[in-house]
Amino acid sequence: MKKKPRMLKGLAVKDGLVRHPFDVEFGVRTSGLVAGRHLSEGHRHSRHATAYYAVAPSIFRGMIVRWRRCRPVAPIDEFTLIDLGAGMGRALLLAAEYPFRAVVGVEFHPTLARIGRRNLALWRAAGRAQAPMRMICRDAAEYELPPGPCVAFLFNPFGGTVLRRVLRNWASGLARCNAQLDILYVNNVQESILERHPRLVRLFKGQVRRSQADTLADRKILTSQPDGEYAAMAWEDCSIYRWTG
Ligand SMILES: C[S@@+](CC[C@H](N)C(=O)[O-])C[C@H]1O[C@@H](n2cnc3c(N)ncnc32)[C@H](O)[C@@H]1O
Repeated sequence: MKKKPRMLKGLAVKDGLVRHPFDVEFGVRTSGLVAGRHLSEGHRHSRHATAYYAVAPSIFRGMIVRWRRCRPVAPIDEFTLIDLGAGMGRALLLAAEYPFRAVVGVEFHPTLARIGRRNLALWRAAGRAQAPMRMICRDAAEYELPPGPCVAFLFNPFGGTVLRRVLRNWASGLARCNAQLDILYVNNVQESILERHPRLVRLFKGQVRRSQADTLADRKILTSQPDGEYAAMAWEDCSIYRWTG
């Protein structure tokens, strides 16, 4: 008999789940708040995971606007967008509204990756995807960048140990292929690691505001958490970096 996948704590109504209007409007499943301690899969980097929570659509779009002002090295249709810690794929769905060469999610939790794949399929079926999309179930620290210009999106997925490993893993490939990489970092808690990195130049640092609708939605979602661990803010501290050869 096929084993029933385990329900993650934070994704059920009894855990205080409130659906974000994005899910209600588009019939997808990206809402929920899973604390880092519930993401453990016996994985070597589990204890460094922050939490699962999907990015506010207005924050994601605001970052793309700021990134495009930073004069990317190539047209958007030559870039692959990679969401490191992609969760259930909300940022991927939003990214596919733009004509990227490809949109790739890297998520280490199998339950979240599985739900994410279903969301991508719904998005494609609804004809909303302007870019090819895929979800890879893997540790971000083991993911190699694809060829061509890349833009990595991070919504505070993990602590400094994993972020350092990701950068170390990418460094040799970037040097070998003289590749292009920009990094969009939302809720930039580990900012100092990027700031001190010898190959990274900061292009933007500041607060990106949520739309009023997203502020209201996130406030409603976060005030219904049983443990009240996370606070709802009207903005996110963000930064954008470029890898320089
Ligand atoms: C804050 S959520 C962001 C979700 C998604 N990027 C979005 O904006 O909708 C962070 C995600 O990173 C994942 N994560 C944490 N550590 C990871 C790792 N080492 N490798 C891959 N995914 C990881 C978590 O499971 C969680 O789904």
